[in-house]
Amino acid sequence: MSQPILFQPLSLRGLTLSNRVGVAPMCQYSARDGQAQDWHVQHYGALAASGPGMVTIEATGVVPEGRISAYCLGLYDEASEAAMTRLVASLKHVGTSAVAIQLAHAGRKAAAMRSWDGGGPAPDGWPTLSASDLAFGPGWPAPKAATADDLDRVTEGFVQAAQRALRAGIDAIELHSAHGYLLHQFLSPLTNRRTDRYGGSLDNRMRFPLEVVAALRQAWPADKPLGIRISATDWAEGGWDIDEAVIYAQAFRDAGIDYVCVSTGGLVPDAKVPVGPGYQRPFARRIRAETGLVTRAVGLIASGLDAEATLQDGDADLIAIGRGFLDDPRWTWRAAEALGVELATPPQYIAARPRFWPGA
Ligand code: FNR
Repeated sequence: MSQPILFQPLSLRGLTLSNRVGVAPMCQYSARDGQAQDWHVQHYGALAASGPGMVTIEATGVVPEGRISAYCLGLYDEASEAAMTRLVASLKHVGTSAVAIQLAHAGRKAAAMRSWDGGGPAPDGWPTLSASDLAFGPGWPAPKAATADDLDRVTEGFVQAAQRALRAGIDAIELHSAHGYLLHQFLSPLTNRRTDRYGGSLDNRMRFPLEVVAALRQAWPADKPLGIRISATDWAEGGWDIDEAVIYAQAFRDAGIDYVCVSTGGLVPDAKVPVGPGYQRPFARRIRAETGLVTRAVGLIASGLDAEATLQDGDADLIAIGRGFLDDPRWTWRAAEALGVELATPPQYIAARPRFWPGA
C-alpha cells in the first residue's frame, strides 16, 4: 500500500514539512504583557512531541492594542521577542515539527476577556480600531475608523513582528485574515463602510489586507513560507462570501502567499453556522481548485481517517486539527496507527510504542 497522503512530506519554499498534520492556532490566554510563559512551553511542547508536520503558535498581536485580550501573545518589543525565542528553542528541542506563528491584529474584537471569563469586552480594555466605527455586538464599544496613519502603524507592526519572528527562529508566518479580526473587517461589506480607497468595491476592501501581505512578503525571507488564514464566508446575509474569497485568494497567491488555511465565520455574533463534521471542507475544495494554492482544511476533522479522506478527495493538501489536539496531544500517533504508518517516536517515549522499537 502506498504511503497515506497525510504522512507524505510537503515542501513550501525552503521548508519541508515531514507530514501534512498541523496543529491549528489556538489562543491560550496565558501570556503576560504579550510574553510566552511556562504554560506555552509545556503546551506546545506536548503537542510537538507526537510529530505533527507543523505547529502554529496562536494568534499573536503585532502591536499591544491588536491583541484579542490582555492575556494574548504579542511580538512587539524586546521582552516578547525574548520569550518567543525561548519558546521556539524549546519546541525545536522537543521534536521535528516546523514552527509557524499566526500574526494578528484583532481590530474591533481586541480588548476582550479571556474565553473562560466570558469572552465579551473587557471592563478594563483599551480603545480599538477597525475599518469603520461599528461595534462587534451589543455591549461592545465602537472602534475608531482607522486613519491612514493608523494603517501605517499596523503595517509597520506586521513588518517588525516578522523581523522578530525571524530572529526568534520561526519557520513560517501565518497571517490572520479570518474570524472577524482586523483584516477580515476590511474585507467584509458588513464591517467596512468606508468611502475612501479602502472601502466600497471588492478591490478597495482587499487593498489593506493585500498591502499587509506585500509588506510581509518583503520583510520575510524568500526561502521561508508565508501562509494566510481566511474565513471563506461570513455565514451572514450581505456579507463576505466564497466568490469574493476566491478572488482574494487569487490576489494573495499572486502576491507570494504559499499556503491558505480555509476557515469560516467570526465576523458577526449572530452568524448562522451549520457546524458539522468537515463542514468547511467544500470551501477549501473550491479555493484549492480555483487558485492551485497549497490549501489547508480545518474544522471538525476528527480522526486520521477523516483527515486522509479529505486529502484523498482533493479537498486540501494539508490538515489542521484544533480541539482534537487539546483532547489528545498524541493525535499524530493515533492518526498514524489508524493509517498503518510507522512514525519516529522520541526515544524517551518509545516504551509506549513497542511496535516502533528498533527491530520490533
Ligand atoms: C481557536 N481557533 C483559533 N483560530 C485562529 O485562527 N487563531 C487562534 O488563535 C484561535 N484560537 C482558538 C482557541 C481555541 C481554544 C480553539 C478551540 C479554537 C480556531 C481553531 O484554530 C480551529 O480553526 C477550530 O477550532 C476548528 O478546528 P477543530 O477544533 O474543529 O479541529
